[in-house]
Amino acid sequence: DIYGDVRKNSKGVNIDIDSQWGPFKQQIDAFMTESWQGGVIVNGDTPDDREPAPIHSPYDRREQVGSVRWADEADVTRAIDSAQQAFEGWRRTPAETRAAALDKMADLMEADLALFTALCHREAGKIIQDGIDEVREAVDFCRYYADQARQNFAEPMVMPGPTGESNELYLEGRGVFACISPWNFPLAIFIGQISAALVAGNTVVAKPAEQTTLIASHAIRLFHQAGIPTDVLHLLPGVGPVIGQAIIADKRIAGVAFTGSTGTAQRIHQTLASKPGPIVPLIAETGGQNAMIVDSTALPEQVIKDVVHSAFTSAGQRCSALRVLYVQQDIADNLMTLLQGAMQELTLGDPSLHETDIGPVIDETARQKLQAHIDDMRANAELIFETPMPDDCAQGTFVAPIAFRIQHLSQLDEEHFGPVLHVITYKASELDDVIAQINDSGYGLTLGIHTRNETTARYIDERVRVGNVYINRDQIGAVVGVQPFGGQGLSGTGPKAGGPRYLYRFATERTRTINT
Ligand code: SER
Repeated sequence: DIYGDVRKNSKGVNIDIDSQWGPFKQQIDAFMTESWQGGVIVNGDTPDDREPAPIHSPYDRREQVGSVRWADEADVTRAIDSAQQAFEGWRRTPAETRAAALDKMADLMEADLALFTALCHREAGKIIQDGIDEVREAVDFCRYYADQARQNFAEPMVMPGPTGESNELYLEGRGVFACISPWNFPLAIFIGQISAALVAGNTVVAKPAEQTTLIASHAIRLFHQAGIPTDVLHLLPGVGPVIGQAIIADKRIAGVAFTGSTGTAQRIHQTLASKPGPIVPLIAETGGQNAMIVDSTALPEQVIKDVVHSAFTSAGQRCSALRVLYVQQDIADNLMTLLQGAMQELTLGDPSLHETDIGPVIDETARQKLQAHIDDMRANAELIFETPMPDDCAQGTFVAPIAFRIQHLSQLDEEHFGPVLHVITYKASELDDVIAQINDSGYGLTLGIHTRNETTARYIDERVRVGNVYINRDQIGAVVGVQPFGGQGLSGTGPKAGGPRYLYRFATERTRTINT
C-alpha cells in the first residue's frame, strides 16, 4: 500500500486508515446507501419548480447516488441581486465575525468526515484516502484563511505620518465574487475559494463543477449553519457554458476565482475584459505539464515510490500530477524495470475498499478523451507498462495506469488529465535541453527533482520556471499554510492558494489620511 502515510503538518482531521479502518468504514457505510438531494440554493432555498436530474456513480454507472435541481439563468440573476444587496452589510461585518464562521465551518466539516468521504466516493469515484484528504484540506483552508483574516483584515496597518497627518491602510471586500471550482477537488478547492472570498468581505455566488454538485450542496448548507447569512452565499450548479457564462457576464461581478482548464480561464478572461463596467480581477489556477527530472545519483526505490504516487494518485486527476518523467539514460533500464514492478502492484477497483489504489476517472467524457490519447500513444510511442484492469471495473469509467516512452515534450500538445505517464530519457550533457523543453511548454505548475547532487538540484531549481518545486520527494499533496500552491504562465495567475498573500487578491485596499 503506497498511500498509508498521513500528512503530518495538516491542522485538519487526520485518519490513519491502516490502523483505524474498521470503525471508520462502519461510519462510512452508514452513508453508502443514502439517496442525496442537491442543487441550486438561492437565499437558502432550493426551488422545487423543476424536475430533479439523476446523478450516477463513476464507479458503477448503474448506481444512482441522488438527484440535483440545476440552476437556470433566472436563478443567476436572483442570486446576484441578493448577493449585491447583502454586500454592504457583509463588508462592514467585523473580520472576527467572518473568521469565526470559517472556524465553525471547519468544525462542522470535521464532524461530517465520514459523510463527505462517502459522498466523495459515490459522486466523484474517490478512494477513501482521497476522500479523507479532501475534508482535511477543506478544514485547513477554513482555519488558515480565518487566521489570515484576523491578522490582516481586523485592524488597519498604521503607516508613517511624516507631515503630521495620521495614515492607515486597510483591506476590505470588493463586492460579489464568482467562485468557479473543479470536480477533481470537489470539497477542498470549492471550500478554499469560497472561504477566502467570504472572509475577505465579499459576498459569493458559487458555481461548482456539474459532476460534483451533491458535495457542493451539502457544503453550502453547512456554511449557512456555520453562520454565513443565506443572502451572502448562493449556489448555482449547472454547465459552464450556460451558468458559468451567465455569472461572469453579469456586470455586477466584482471578482472571479476559477480553477479548471487553461482554455476556460482564457475564455473567462476575454469575457471579463469585454463587458462594460469595472475592471474585474481574475484569480485562475489552471493546468500543468508537470515534469520530474531524475539524474543518475538518485535513489531508485525512492524515485519509483514518488513517481507512482505523483503520476497515479487520484487516477492522475490532480493539476499537480506528474506527466513527464525525465530519466538520465545511465539508469533508465533499471528504473523502468522497477516502474513496471510498481505499476503491476497497483490495484484498480471499488474505491470504497481499503486495498484499492486507483478508482475511476470522473466520467465517460473524460475516459474517452484519455482513451483517444492512449490510442495515439500506442501508435506513436513505445509502451512501457499498463496496469492490468480487473473485470469488476467494467461498469465504471476506469482508465488503467499506463506509461509510454516518448522522445520530446513537444509530442504532447496538451495536458492529459489522467493516469498516463510519459517517460523521456536524456544524457547528462542534455540537461539544458530538458530544462528548455519544460520551460517552452509554457506551463509552470509543479516540478520534481531527484538527485543526491545538491549542485544539480540547485542548477535545475534556478532555471525551471514553475510555481512548486519538490526535491527528493513526490510532487503532489501541497499542504495548506505549509506549501502554498499555484503556478505561472499557462498554469495560472497566482496568488498561491493556502499561502499568506492569497486573501489580498480577494480584497481592495484603502488608505485613510486624517489631518490631526
Ligand atoms: N493542491 C493539489 C496538490 O498539491 C493539486 O491541486 O496535489
